[in-house]
Amino acid sequence: MYSEQVLREGLKTKQFGCKIYTFDTIDSTNNCARALAGCWAEEGTVIISEEQTAGRGRLGRPWLANPNENLTFSIILRPALLPDQLNIIPLYVAVAVTQAVERVSGLKVECKWPNDLLIHGRKFGGILIEGSVKQNAVEYVVVGIGINVNQERFAGDLAKTATSLRLQKGAQIDRKRLFGEILSSMEAHYATASNSHFQSILPLWRSHTSMIDKKISVMEHGAMVSGVVRGFSPEGGLVMETDGKERTFFAGDVTVVGS
Ligand code: BTN
Repeated sequence: MYSEQVLREGLKTKQFGCKIYTFDTIDSTNNCARALAGCWAEEGTVIISEEQTAGRGRLGRPWLANPNENLTFSIILRPALLPDQLNIIPLYVAVAVTQAVERVSGLKVECKWPNDLLIHGRKFGGILIEGSVKQNAVEYVVVGIGINVNQERFAGDLAKTATSLRLQKGAQIDRKRLFGEILSSMEAHYATASNSHFQSILPLWRSHTSMIDKKISVMEHGAMVSGVVRGFSPEGGLVMETDGKERTFFAGDVTVVGS
């Protein structure tokens, strides 16, 4: 379905989507983006594919999406951040994608730290950030975005946890329009948030999550840690109170237990 020409129709961005590489099938758009980024592809370059044969999510999980129904794409960024400031990037992307999805679908989106997008507690979108660091500087960041747009059936365990915008809205969503809105939203926030090392994204992130004061469990290096979410650190970490002490997590698999 995708052709660069069709995707460009109505695209309002300057930098994001400066180059768009389209594929019918690819192993993973993130793999392709990393290869291009390593060869000095311009910031804002997009790789989009109808189908991924080895699409992946966080923590080594597969990302499965039917062709012709969803959005699976990656964008190359070169943010002026130090390597230890990169944990804020998933929050920036989640806010930008959330606002675009809300605008196009009229649905209310919930962000789950660090990079899951949910509607009514079911996941419809995920973000995979992969960066390259050289001599203590960020060389590039690849932002991989997977959105279940019009898929109506999910196989196996996903049937219990996944959803799509089509299922939630009860109507088809225009994928091309959503793609354009996501790029616009990302570009707009990138321009403003870059000036503050992305700190300005934190109040927006807080307004799109209901995790604060919720009981959660975090799987960290094979061990389960339980506690209550107290907030998010300026670097994008999750602040959890556990055993009377506050701890900040920068990675891990979070399960929300209750309030
Ligand atoms: C997650 O929820 O764990 C993140 C999912 C990210 C999936 C997207 S689809 C486009 C890009 N290419 C990949 O292989 N993964 C990301």
